[in-house]
Formats: sequence, structure tokens, C-alpha cells
Amino acid sequence: MKLTITRPDDWHLHLRDGDMLKGILPETTRDFGRAIIMPNLVPPVVTGVQATAYRGRIQAALPKGSRFTPLMTLYLTNTTNADDVAAAHAFGQITAVKLYPAGATTNSDSGVTDIEKVMPVLEKMAEIGLPLCVHGEVTYPSVDIFDREAVFIERVLAPLRTRLPALKIIMEHVTTEDGVDYVNSAKNTAATLTTHHLIINRNHLLVGGIKPHYYCLPIAKREAHRLALVNAATSGNPKFFLGTDSAPHSDPAKESACGCAGVFSATNTMSCLAHVFENAGALDKLEAFTSLNGPAFYGLPPNADKITLTKQTTPVPYPAKIETGAGPVTVFDPGFPLYWHVA
Ligand code: NCD
Ligand code: ZN
Repeated sequence: MKLTITRPDDWHLHLRDGDMLKGILPETTRDFGRAIIMPNLVPPVVTGVQATAYRGRIQAALPKGSRFTPLMTLYLTNTTNADDVAAAHAFGQITAVKLYPAGATTNSDSGVTDIEKVMPVLEKMAEIGLPLCVHGEVTYPSVDIFDREAVFIERVLAPLRTRLPALKIIMEHVTTEDGVDYVNSAKNTAATLTTHHLIINRNHLLVGGIKPHYYCLPIAKREAHRLALVNAATSGNPKFFLGTDSAPHSDPAKESACGCAGVFSATNTMSCLAHVFENAGALDKLEAFTSLNGPAFYGLPPNADKITLTKQTTPVPYPAKIETGAGPVTVFDPGFPLYWHVA
């Protein structure tokens, strides 16, 4: 069996920097044409000049002959200046701005503490058509970690949506049925879905021993939510597209008494997705999810070239770990053999 589709893009990706970047970049560039590059470096990417310098480091690390295009983002902080953001957009330095609520996830200490503080920037973005990528979780200690997405929608996202109807918002890595329903109901709003949230629920993370390589934020939820995500992804609805949130951490950082959040799925994402879509009887919707809906929402053309997925009769071998100069990085284990591969 063969399936030829427009080359996919990854609308939410962590590439890190230095030796980690060099080690893991080929895992993405093998299959993907473009990716939205997350700005949560230490320190974060907050200016157009920093975004351009980071793009340069990514381009310098590209495998020979690669035509991969990194699409850069700025990390929104309480002190981000609206005119600086508009200038970075006008100079072609950035494709989107990322909102992390302070303390929500890995390297989000510089994030926004109160949406009021960034309203001038968001108003400017609405005016110039620059999309906002949102990590949709509240961080109040009083809110249970499994409820953080639903509470964010109610307290932060829905009011913001009403206040700035023209702002293009991408709710990143939606993990709940509440998120899917909200995105379906809201104008000018789309969502990315990760590979791993289509495959694992919280039992995979916690039953039979804790699995640090399944720990990511937002945390995997119960099975009913996973099913809602699969329905959204395989529906063909243009509001939903792939953002792997592939987020490498070295094994010692994951396998620790206080392990980092992040699942690394760049290596086998297309194999995993073909499996999920085939199981849902929706292989014909895979291209929309991975290659068409994302560019349409961002106002970009789809990639001009194609990839071919082939289904073989024996499991596709892929490395359990990627060895990098910053240590080994464990590849996402879907928990079942994969038969599809990009030829
Ligand atoms: C991401 C990371 O490691 O940078 N981790 C994660 O669990 N997804 C941060 C993020 O996108 O939340
Ligand atoms: Zn992420």
C-alpha cells in the first residue's frame, strides 16, 4: 500500500540550540518541509534580531541539501513592545508570537503573568494579521493539573476571543474534548494536535509504573479526551492540524526525581499518524491534517513537493534513542509496531 501526499509541516516544534539542535534537527527535516519553531530557549527568543540569529543557527545545522524552512516565533513577555513585534513581522523575521502563561511548562518563567499586560501587543497583532500561538493552561496552584486546559479556555481564552475577534489564535496541543469543542465554536481559531496525544492517555503515563518519556505538558488526559482528539484530527476539519510539540530532553533530564516535560516524536511521527488515521478509516484525511490545513490557516501555500508513505508487512525499525552531543534522547514509543514509513 502506498499513499502520496503533499510534504507535511510541523506547526509546533522545539529544536533547542547547540549540540541538541545539531543532533535532533535531521529527525524533522527528513519528512517535514517547514516548522513553527518554539522560542522557549534559555534565555527566550524575544526580539526579531534574536529570532533571525536563531534561524541562522538552525540553517547552519541543516543536513546537506535540506530545503527545510524554519518559521520563527517570538516569546511574548509582560514587557514585549507592540511596535517591535510589528517591525519583526514587517521584516519577515517572524511568522507568529507565542503566549506562555508564566510557569506553565518547560522554560516558561518569562511568560505572561496577566493577559492585560500584553493587550497592546495582541491588539497590534490583530491589526496586522500576525497569528498568536497559545499554550492554553492556567498555572494557578489551586487548579488541578488535569483541569488546567479547560479552566484556561473559560477564564482566559474565551474572554480574549470576544475582546479581539480579529486576532488569529492557534490553541496549541489541545488535549481535551473541551478544547476541541471550544475551537469548533470559535471564529478565527484553530488548534494543533500532537502525535502522542492521539495515541496515549493518562493510563499509559501512570499505570504499571511511571513512564517519564510520556510526561509532557499539557499532560495526557483520560481516554474519552483522546478519542475526541482522534475524531478532530481525522475529521478533515480545517481548524485542526499537526503540531508535534516534539520536545527533546536528554534521558538523564527525563529519567529523574523531577523529570522534564516533553515527548520527542519527530523521528516516527508520520509512521504513527498513518497508523492512527488508518485505524480510524481516515487515511484520505491525513494530508489535510499534516500538509494542507496548517498552511491555509497561516495564509501560506502548501509545500510544492510530495512524500510517499508505504505500508510494509513487517514492523518498521526505528531507533529507540537519538544520540546527540547533548546526550541520548528517547524516541516516542507508541506502544504498538509501526508498518507505515516514508519511503
Ligand atoms: C515543552 C518543552 O520541553 O519545551 N514541553 C512539553 O511538555 N510540551 C514545552 C511546551 O511546549 O509546553
Ligand atoms: Zn511545545
